[in-house]
Amino acid sequence: MLKNSDQAYGWLACAFHWVSAIVIIGLFILGLWMVDLTYYSDWYKTAPHIHRSIGLLLAVFIIARIIWRLMNSQPAPVSTHKAWEVKTGHIVHWVLYIGMFAMFISGYMISTAKGQPVDVFNWFSLPAVVTGESLGIKNMEDVAGEIHEILAYILIGFASLHALAALKHHFIDKDSTLLRMLGKNT
Ligand code: HEM
Ligand code: HEM
Repeated sequence: MLKNSDQAYGWLACAFHWVSAIVIIGLFILGLWMVDLTYYSDWYKTAPHIHRSIGLLLAVFIIARIIWRLMNSQPAPVSTHKAWEVKTGHIVHWVLYIGMFAMFISGYMISTAKGQPVDVFNWFSLPAVVTGESLGIKNMEDVAGEIHEILAYILIGFASLHALAALKHHFIDKDSTLLRMLGKNT
């Protein structure tokens, strides 16, 4: 079904989850690869353009995901989960949502540091709302770049722990945690 029920995630929540997970991992790999490109590479300008465009489209996608989450009831925790597991899960999910927005904002601030808009696939562009000059930060590009890099490692670190926890529930505890996110109504 489309919507969540008391026991299961609907297919739209599952689709939102897996598309965002794949895109975030893709942006992480693309980001690390592109910052080492030299001026002579054909990808020198194209790769960051693709990275910024996909990153901003993902931001819109995640906002839609959160609206959908607010319009839906959340399935009850898996009955065999201990109270601390439910609590830790909730905290980690919050950290992941906040981490995603921190990536969007810091990425946007690198791109607009000198007042240039962010062009999304030559389709539309988002103007610079704040610039290094207006904020009084001299080398905002570098500062935001450092923050963006550190946050990327933190986000992927938490996502990896989160994925390991899901795999532990599936293979060791043999409960329905992962199957529920795969749309199985167990
Ligand atoms: C979840 C989303 C995102 C992830 C996981 C991500 C990941 C990364 C990573 C790993 C790097 C390489 C950092 C380094 O080693 O210096 C990077 C660089 C960069 N990202 Fe993102 N990014 C995301 C979203 C965005 C968005 C939305 C924008 C802009 C609108 C953006 C703009 C940039 C720019 C301009 C760089 C180059 C920074 C530099 O030259 O130092 N990113 N990103
Ligand atoms: C960048 C990668 C990922 C991000 C950002 C992410 C983010 C999230 C978030 C925010 C939620 C909470 C959903 C909600 O109720 O609103 C969630 C749930 C979940 N995720 Fe991920 N996820 C990622 C990758 C993965 C991977 C690789 C797996 C499996 C191996 C996984 C398995 C799950 C499961 C099973 C749930 C449901 C947990 C529950 O019912 O309490 N996720 N994820």
